[in-house]
Amino acid sequence: MRLLFYTEGSNAESWLEALRREFVDARIDGWPSALAGDADYALVWKPPVELLRALGKVKAIFNLGAGVDSMPDVSVLPRDVPLVRLEDAGMAEQMAEYVCHAVLHRYREFDAYAEQQQMAEWRQRPRLPKSGFRVGILGLGVLGTAVAMALAPFGFPLRAWSRTHKSLPGVATSTGMAELDGFLAGVRLLVCLLPLTNQTQGLLDGERLSRLPRGAYLVNVSRGGLVVDDELLALLDSDQLAGATLDVFRDEPLPPEHRFWHHPRVALTPHVSAVTLVEESVAQIAAKIRRLEAGLPITGIVGREYGY
Ligand SMILES: NC(=O)c1ccc[n+]([C@@H]2O[C@H](COP(=O)([O-])OP(=O)(O)OC[C@H]3O[C@@H](n4cnc5c(N)ncnc54)[C@H](OP(=O)(O)O)[C@@H]3O)[C@@H](O)[C@H]2O)c1
Repeated sequence: MRLLFYTEGSNAESWLEALRREFVDARIDGWPSALAGDADYALVWKPPVELLRALGKVKAIFNLGAGVDSMPDVSVLPRDVPLVRLEDAGMAEQMAEYVCHAVLHRYREFDAYAEQQQMAEWRQRPRLPKSGFRVGILGLGVLGTAVAMALAPFGFPLRAWSRTHKSLPGVATSTGMAELDGFLAGVRLLVCLLPLTNQTQGLLDGERLSRLPRGAYLVNVSRGGLVVDDELLALLDSDQLAGATLDVFRDEPLPPEHRFWHHPRVALTPHVSAVTLVEESVAQIAAKIRRLEAGLPITGIVGREYGY
């Protein structure tokens, strides 16, 4: 078996070591390679389009991440070549940790207590009614579902929104653009776990975020392109939104001059909510390749018409 590997990241050697351990009999070439045309499978993260063009009769392309928004235009490939993304591979647990922390931080008012501490002020704030702290999750896929299940034991009212109808015990679900405004009304904390696609680019603009009740919070852990930065900042400045926890940005690294860095209502992290784990990812890809070689179906194939 011949594998072509490419990552734009700095950890190529860890991937190659894990791949060599998992695929002992395979020939593994890094890109650029004159042998790209012979590859059976390509395993890539943010590849240049020339790599895709150089592939011959590849059987599948594995994206070394959950989101495929950084893949170049895959229309250069025959339609029957599956583009496969990572599903969970250790990211769901991380995402659940991150979002539960963000929700509990806001609900238990840790920022207000931090301010009180600065003033040596001993004051117990009244407990917020949990029934009024509805958490809404945009995207009820692999990661959105894991987050909903992790939040469920805390007892927050939960609702989730997806493209096609989904049902999950304890979660009120809604579907499609026609139901989005109704979904947002009454959501005290909004978690964004939507992929970045032509349909979702800029979805969270000022108008849509204004559908949230005054004093609501945003947690964006999917892609920065979902949010219109200036319009989010205007809502934070005007007290319409109480805070935003942001892990992802339109430009990464976030430019030093960006207002998010020093905004008192923004808590930010450098795209760490759920990092790709090399061992787990290679094991998942190897299991899928074994299934493909045996003529069996696999999950995680990107619907090219939907872009995720
Ligand atoms: N920050 C990080 O470290 C990090 C790490 C991993 C992933 N991510 C991001 O998280 C995203 C989600 O990952 P995942 O594995 O959960 O993806 P997934 O399983 O494909 O789930 C995507 C969800 O979004 C919904 N959706 C897609 N387009 C929609 C639209 N136009 N309208 C309404 N709902 C829509 C899907 O609806 P259906 O259920 O109807 O298909 C699905 O519920 C990835 O695309 C990636 O961008 C970020």
